[in-house]
Amino acid sequence: MIHPIVVGNWKMHNNYAGSVLLAKEVARYSEKIKHIDIVLAPPSIFVYPIYESLRARPSNLYLGVQNMMWENEGAYTGEISSIMVRGIAEYVILGHSERAKFFGETNEQVNKKIKNCLKNHLNCIVCIGEYDKYDLEDDYERELTRMKSDKGILSGLKERLTGLSAEDLENVSIAYEPVWAIGTGNNASGMYAGAIASIIKEFLHKELGISSSCRVLYGGSVDDKNAREFAAQTSIDGLLVGGESLNALRFAKICKIVSEVKSGR
Ligand code: PGA
Repeated sequence: MIHPIVVGNWKMHNNYAGSVLLAKEVARYSEKIKHIDIVLAPPSIFVYPIYESLRARPSNLYLGVQNMMWENEGAYTGEISSIMVRGIAEYVILGHSERAKFFGETNEQVNKKIKNCLKNHLNCIVCIGEYDKYDLEDDYERELTRMKSDKGILSGLKERLTGLSAEDLENVSIAYEPVWAIGTGNNASGMYAGAIASIIKEFLHKELGISSSCRVLYGGSVDDKNAREFAAQTSIDGLLVGGESLNALRFAKICKIVSEVKSGR
């Protein structure tokens, strides 16, 4: 059975004291939230102090970073590597669309990062999403072809996952994040996100030979009002939450909703 997951991507927000406080508050709420994994991905400078301050955290609460370099070490000013992350955090978000938009990150670089991350026994959350909404209702087959064509989400995903075995992918989750929905308040509908999550799963299974245990998450303007709609989709195994993960209470509500819907309790 796939274990659901909710990830809080804090992006470049918060200061030291605010980050530690936010993490502690989430930890307190998480104690009562069962049946899902919860991951906090603060700015990397705050991951270690949070790790220290949460030594007695609930067993379903994990830490993550938002990016890393593909080499273990070297002259890469400003970067962190997976061997630095290992032992402090368990997850790495890779290939977020903001990395491509602001830093020109390519699919090939994301692929190298995933490989390095897995070699160092970290779990990756690999993001993928389209810039312009697919019109599945108008012509499903045409849009599916568009997804597989150059610059489509499926061809992008294939490039990102090149050379990885089914076994490698046991520690990879895919975050489907339509770019038009990120930070805009304009979330995808549950049906739309669910349809694309299931297309992604079928693609992983049929074209890349990857087992269906690979989690697919939805992200893009998730809040405590729309979370239920996404969690209710059988193809969606969790959520990647940006803005709303900066509020402990609302983030915990989102986690609780996912837990309730997915466990049926
Ligand atoms: P958002 O961000 O929830 O603020 O839209 C999601 C993300 O970029 O991961």
